[in-house]
Amino acid sequence: MSDGIKTICCIGAGYVGGPTMAVIADKCKYLKVIVVDLNKDKINSWNNEDLTKLPVYEPGLKDLIKRCRGKNLFFSTNIQQSIAESDMVFISVNTPTKQTGLGAGEASDLKFIESSARSIAEFAIGHTIVVEKSTIPVKTAEVIKTILISSQKGSEKIPEKSFTVLSNPEFLAEGTAIDDLINPSRVLIGGESKTSINALVNIYKNWVSEEKIIKTNIWSSELSKLTANAFLAQRVSSINSISALCEKTGADISEVSKAVGMDYRIGRHFLKAGPGFGGSCFKKDILNLVYICKLYDLNEVANYWNEVLKINHWQQNRLTNIIVKKLFGTVTNKKIGILGFAFKANTNDTRESPAINICSNLLMEGAKLTIYDPKVKFKDISNSLKNLKNAVNDSFKIEENVCMSSSFEQLANGSDAILILTEWVEFKEIEWLKISKLMRKPSWIFDCRDIIDINHFRESDLNIWKIGFGSNMDNLK
Ligand code: NAD
Ligand code: UDX
Repeated sequence: MSDGIKTICCIGAGYVGGPTMAVIADKCKYLKVIVVDLNKDKINSWNNEDLTKLPVYEPGLKDLIKRCRGKNLFFSTNIQQSIAESDMVFISVNTPTKQTGLGAGEASDLKFIESSARSIAEFAIGHTIVVEKSTIPVKTAEVIKTILISSQKGSEKIPEKSFTVLSNPEFLAEGTAIDDLINPSRVLIGGESKTSINALVNIYKNWVSEEKIIKTNIWSSELSKLTANAFLAQRVSSINSISALCEKTGADISEVSKAVGMDYRIGRHFLKAGPGFGGSCFKKDILNLVYICKLYDLNEVANYWNEVLKINHWQQNRLTNIIVKKLFGTVTNKKIGILGFAFKANTNDTRESPAINICSNLLMEGAKLTIYDPKVKFKDISNSLKNLKNAVNDSFKIEENVCMSSSFEQLANGSDAILILTEWVEFKEIEWLKISKLMRKPSWIFDCRDIIDINHFRESDLNIWKIGFGSNMDNLK
């Protein structure tokens, strides 16, 4: 049990808010946990009886929701009442890159953080611990505090209120969110108030051992989150840069990754070459880091981290160029099958997916795409590609150039090429020699996720190109 904390609320029912609160509710049955959002459709989906309709797909999430929803876990649009009855409020709203104005293209847009802070300032009653879960620039806690403090003065209507602010960044990765939340590598809590820190520690202590709970000052906590994501993204860009060199030299990136990763000082994680990192976090957080460095006149540091993003973009364009070249320099009106549109396996999230850039490039070259993804819906694909219209021409219609497929056979039928863009486990089971019989000749498989064992195709006339290796036609013989 914990320090008089009986009810907690989370503003933002997205990929972080939903799963995180579901785990807290499951591990702390004595707490009432309310997740609120402005988006009514999203809250309705979280409350849907049919658990396949939850807005977030994560392995293990359905079971948690089934166990806790309606008992001590609630999803609501009533932000006012939920904040008023809570002793602790988590802010887990989106913090996208600013599109216009000061810092556009780099700085984080804090408008959702600010509006959340204003709602807390207005509706909280008594003492409230405010916990930043969103990833935000260093010193954002100061902004939140200023908004909260200004509400403490001069209003007769509002019963006496007080606040403390903590930073508690979330390190979960999509696709493994529930496991990451149940077995976190660490829990980071930044703040000044020992009592408030202890109140949050007492919640985590219900399932996380105390040695894993790190307490820091609030700015270190905020910066640690940005730094962790920048380091992870940097590893992906590093291995992707070497994948290009492997293709030129006859080395195999999977062998290089293994050999490099077995050095305990380097470690084996995040050394998988691919079509570049996607997801809602890496790009936005590095851009934010770049922006902060520039603010402090640390231009060399800003340039250093910016290169991680440049390589990522280059990798996606590089792959498109290889595909077009292998298909005789043109893909106009050719049917290309796309396996996977999510930014990684085990999620329905397409934000910043490398598939967006690669598919856009191919559509601009005139290709017709057929896409199969076990969890992504056509509406999300179409939404991700909506900017293309301007890039191609006014009459370009996504639905005339992109369609979904419900089977591998349908996707392969008449295709000139198939691209593997997400490493869904079911793609590892595909019988390529069988499937390729349905394709137009010469047919190509482009394995951008390194999931095919190319040695099986030594004697085959099926053209397979693999990231960080090259083609079986060039490299095995
Ligand atoms: P998301 O877009 O999935 O969800 C955010 C939700 O907040 C949306 O549903 C939106 O409607 C809601 N919202 C915005 N303003 C609101 C307001 N004033 N009141 C009520 N609801 C409001 O975002 P996400 O992926 O869950 O990310 C949330 C934060 O966590 C971001 O800062 C992100 O960088 C960080 N983060 C994300 C991940 C991840 O894997 N997605 C991991 C760690 C940290
Ligand atoms: C990331 C961080 O891992 C997580 O700690 C943070 O809280 C949110 O951002 P996420 O973006 O959900 O999580 O997934 P992650 O597993 O980090 O993958 C990000 C991208 O990098 C994906 O597109 C993935 O395919 C790619 N990646 C990852 C590689 O290409 N190679 C690798 O070895 C690892």
